[in-house]
Amino acid sequence: MNSRIAGTGGYLPENVMTNADLEKIVETSDEWITERTGIRQRHIAVEGETTCDIAEKAARQAIDSAGLKPQDVDLIIVATTTPDRIFPSTACLLQQRLDIHGCAAFDVQAVCTGFVYALSVAEKFIRTGSATRALVVGAETTSRIIDWSDRTTCVLFGDGAGAVVLEATEAPGILSTHLHADGAYSDLLTVPEGVSQGFEKMQAGDAYIKMQGNEVFKMAVKTLGRIVDETLAANNMEKRDIDWLIPHQANIRIIKATAKKLNMSMDQVVVTVDHHGNTSAASIPLALDVAVRDGRVKRGETLLLEAFGGGFTWGSALLKY
Ligand code: ACO
Repeated sequence: MNSRIAGTGGYLPENVMTNADLEKIVETSDEWITERTGIRQRHIAVEGETTCDIAEKAARQAIDSAGLKPQDVDLIIVATTTPDRIFPSTACLLQQRLDIHGCAAFDVQAVCTGFVYALSVAEKFIRTGSATRALVVGAETTSRIIDWSDRTTCVLFGDGAGAVVLEATEAPGILSTHLHADGAYSDLLTVPEGVSQGFEKMQAGDAYIKMQGNEVFKMAVKTLGRIVDETLAANNMEKRDIDWLIPHQANIRIIKATAKKLNMSMDQVVVTVDHHGNTSAASIPLALDVAVRDGRVKRGETLLLEAFGGGFTWGSALLKY
């Protein structure tokens, strides 16, 4: 049994923060941020707006666009690094919001690669007959783990949620997924505090993203180049067979390097980093939803999804839309 994307959805919090707004908070400039990252603005959840709140909006849209009702879903996976609670999982909270009861629901944590991990897991559930219609969500309120006095990270991230419904089908849909991780690099990109280290430390206010941006950048470019080759080889495909690259949106320079590796024109690359910033696990499903809704991505086309993030984790998915 194959699985195909039956519907997509996306949601961005209403509150927009521009580079000019950031100039008032830290020593930075619109010119630096735009040149080094391609980011012009990002959306930031308002106080009290949670990951589950925005996940619900994206999920309802995806279910709607698949022509289904929430109760048709029989698996829920939420990729997030910023869950509402330590437990229950955001997937369980979302399940309750959607008035779905009984099906498996769990979170996946692979930071910016989270959506690709979640999609891969859902695809395997469907292929083995354990689910027929999976709701796969990437949702983040990354602004909550940002140190707003650290200009090396606070300019990069944004909040948002994207979702797909993955449905069992006989025709080809997801062709292959490729997941990797290497914890040897855990200190280059991390929130160094956590529950099991004690709440006191977390409350001391160090539970924020720390990143050696330059090192991460070099590894991301090299690793994404390799995973592109791995994905094409696994499917006996050539670079020219890919219609659209839908990359994780961390930095326009990383995206351009991957497009170059694929000999793809930027016209075939979905870019949202300028408006969304880096929304971590939400960035790929959000970009996909944007390109489906504006009519660029059409049924039958071949899409390459790829991501790199904290862990390090990295992964790709090749699919017929
Ligand atoms: N405004 C102005 N100047 C700044 C800012 C800022 N916001 N941030 C850093 N600078 C300064 C630095 O202090 C440094 O100054 P110096 O030369 O006087 O020391 C200079 O700019 C250059 O800094 P670099 O870090 O070398 O800049 P770089 O070109 O590498 O760009 C960036 C930084 C944008 C973070 C880039 O390295 C990057 O995109 N890295 C990868 C991010 C990524 O992909 N993360 C993975 C996914 S995220 C996840 O998994 C959660």
